[in-house]
Amino acid sequence: MTGQGDRHAWFHGGDAKCRELPRIPSRRFGLVLLGPPGVGKGTQAEKLAPELGTCHLSTGDVFRQGQIVPDGQRSPALDTALGAMRRGELVSDDIVIDMVRERAGCLRCRGGFLLDGFPRTVAQAEALDSLLEEQGTHLDAAVYYTVPRQTLIERLSGRRTCPSCNAVFHIASRPPRLPGICDDCSGRLVQRADDCPESISVRLAAYDQNTTPLIDYYRKTNRLLVVEADGPTDTICMRTLALLAEYKVDYHDNGDRNARPATF
Ligand code: AP5
Repeated sequence: MTGQGDRHAWFHGGDAKCRELPRIPSRRFGLVLLGPPGVGKGTQAEKLAPELGTCHLSTGDVFRQGQIVPDGQRSPALDTALGAMRRGELVSDDIVIDMVRERAGCLRCRGGFLLDGFPRTVAQAEALDSLLEEQGTHLDAAVYYTVPRQTLIERLSGRRTCPSCNAVFHIASRPPRLPGICDDCSGRLVQRADDCPESISVRLAAYDQNTTPLIDYYRKTNRLLVVEADGPTDTICMRTLALLAEYKVDYHDNGDRNARPATF
């Protein structure tokens, strides 16, 4: 049992329902994973989801899934979004916020939520807070991962992904058992179009300009947890879980955080 559901509702949006529901966790978490491209948000989300019983909800994965829609059948908004992604630019706030709004049911999920890649601008963070309030739920914390910039470039340039099941590998730190083949579904691994050197520098610049202000946004509302993301992936996951456990204790002890009471 993975803990997370099958994420059908997240990938398909609208009225789609998950066929496999997440187990009911002992504590329900609503979390955002923050950090630069390549810091390991997706890798950590896959490790945290079964531990917390939440689903890993990545906006980048939803857009990438749009790439398999044949030419001519994609909406103009999706075509615009895919063009921005290929160049390493951010997709416009309106498109991203509409996409998450169409999946608002995932934010109310009994397993909680673990957002990866959203929000990425202050406008998106404000929209998320409003959306959560409308849905009668809230964000517990934004987990902010940090590593030196050179490490980001090494992680991004060596990453290989499986377009069929979204599994993520790295040619040095997490090589697949058979070169070029996904361990999980035997799909052929590819290098993401936005992991080329030109797109990496555009993405890092977009992060510096648009996403770093979110660190202050969440710090000011006492919802920021900073995690050093250098070292083995299991160690980073343990660090995150330890901080989350402490954070909750702290919340109950002090009771004065701006965050509203947790629902677990
Ligand atoms: P998205 O898919 O969200 O990409 P990203 O934020 O750039 O993050 P990445 O997926 O590149 O990195 P990651 O931190 O998840 O690292 P990973 O775990 O893979 O978004 C892609 C694009 O979509 C955006 O550029 C934008 O165009 C658009 N978009 C999406 N959301 C949007 C939004 N809200 N607003 C506007 N536009 C949006 O790890 C990287 C590599 O490192 C892997 O190979 C992994 O195996 C390896 N690794 C991980 N951890 C370690 C470790 N501890 N040690 C060694 N290697 C490690």
